[in-house]
Amino acid sequence: MNEQVIEETKAQEKNTLDREMAHFSPEDWDNGTFGVQTWLERTAWKTLSSTEYGFSKNNVAPPNQAIWEDPLLNQIYKLDLATFLNAEHLSVEGISAMVGFAPDEGSQIFLTTQAFDEARHFEVFCRRLADLGMTPEARKNMVNAVKTKEMRTFFDLIREQVDKKDYIAAILAHNVILEGMAYPVYRYEIKYWSRLDPGLSQIIQGAFADEVHHVTYGESFIREQIRKSVKTRNQVSRLAREFSGLMTDVFESVIYHYIGLYQEAANSYIDIMGDIKIFGNKRIAELTEEDQVRLLLEEVQAEYHKRLKTIGLTLD
Ligand SMILES: [Fe+2]
Ligand SMILES: [Fe+2]
Repeated sequence: MNEQVIEETKAQEKNTLDREMAHFSPEDWDNGTFGVQTWLERTAWKTLSSTEYGFSKNNVAPPNQAIWEDPLLNQIYKLDLATFLNAEHLSVEGISAMVGFAPDEGSQIFLTTQAFDEARHFEVFCRRLADLGMTPEARKNMVNAVKTKEMRTFFDLIREQVDKKDYIAAILAHNVILEGMAYPVYRYEIKYWSRLDPGLSQIIQGAFADEVHHVTYGESFIREQIRKSVKTRNQVSRLAREFSGLMTDVFESVIYHYIGLYQEAANSYIDIMGDIKIFGNKRIAELTEEDQVRLLLEEVQAEYHKRLKTIGLTLD
C-alpha cells in the first residue's frame, strides 16, 4: 500500500476528521497560524468585530472639534494620515504582486490574507480623510506631496526587491523593514491622538495588530532561509544594513521638514495632551517634538536590531 492509501485508511478507521494531516506541504517556517482560518478567527471575529471602517462607532468619541477648526492641527492630522497612506499603498501593491511568486502554498495563502489587510488599512485611512471633507483628488495630491526625497529613496529600494521577484529580499523589505518600522510609529501615533481623536487611535490599533502578525511571518520565513544558506544570510545582511541607513535618513528628513509644524500644534494643545506618556514615564509636556521623533527613531532602531537578532542576524 502506498503512503497515501495508508493515511486514508487510518483516517477511515478512526472515523474522524484528521486534523493532524497538513493541508499544505509542511514548511519549516510555518507553525500553522498563517492561514485563512486563523485570519478569520484573529482578525474578522476578534480584533475587528463590531467595527466600521476600523472603529466602534457607538462607543468612541468623535474627533475633537479643533481638528476641523484649527488649520495647523488639521494640517498635521492630514500629514500623519498621508504618511501612513504612502506606506499602506506601497504594501498593497508590493504584497499583492508577491502572491504571484511566493515559493510555497502556505506563503502564498498568507500573503493573500496580508494583501487584504493592507487593502483594509489603506481604505480606513482614506475613509478618515474623507470623513474630514477631503476629496480623493486632494488626498492623492497630498499623499504624493508629503514624500520627502529620503522617503522616495527608501520606498524605491523596497519596490526594487519586488520588481526583481526576489522573494526573500522582498519579504525582508516589506515584512521585516517596512512593517517593523510601522510598529513603533503606530504605537506612538495611537497614544499621540488618543485624546484628540480616540476613533483614529482605534483605527491605528487595528492596523497595528495586523502589522504584528505580518512581521511574525517575515521573521519566521527569513529565519529559516538564513539557517539553510550562508549565501542568503550574506545577501540579507547586506540589504539589512542598507535599509538601516535609509531608515535613519527618513526620520532625519521628517524632523527637518515637519517638526516645526508639529511643535507649534503640540504647544497649543498641551493642556489636553500634555500628560500622555509615550516614552517610559516621560509626559509629552516634558519633551519637545524633536526629542520625541529622536526617541522614536531610537525605538525603531532598537526594535530593528531585536528583529534581526530574532532572525539570526547581527549588523556590525
Ligand atoms: Fe498595513
Ligand atoms: Fe502589514
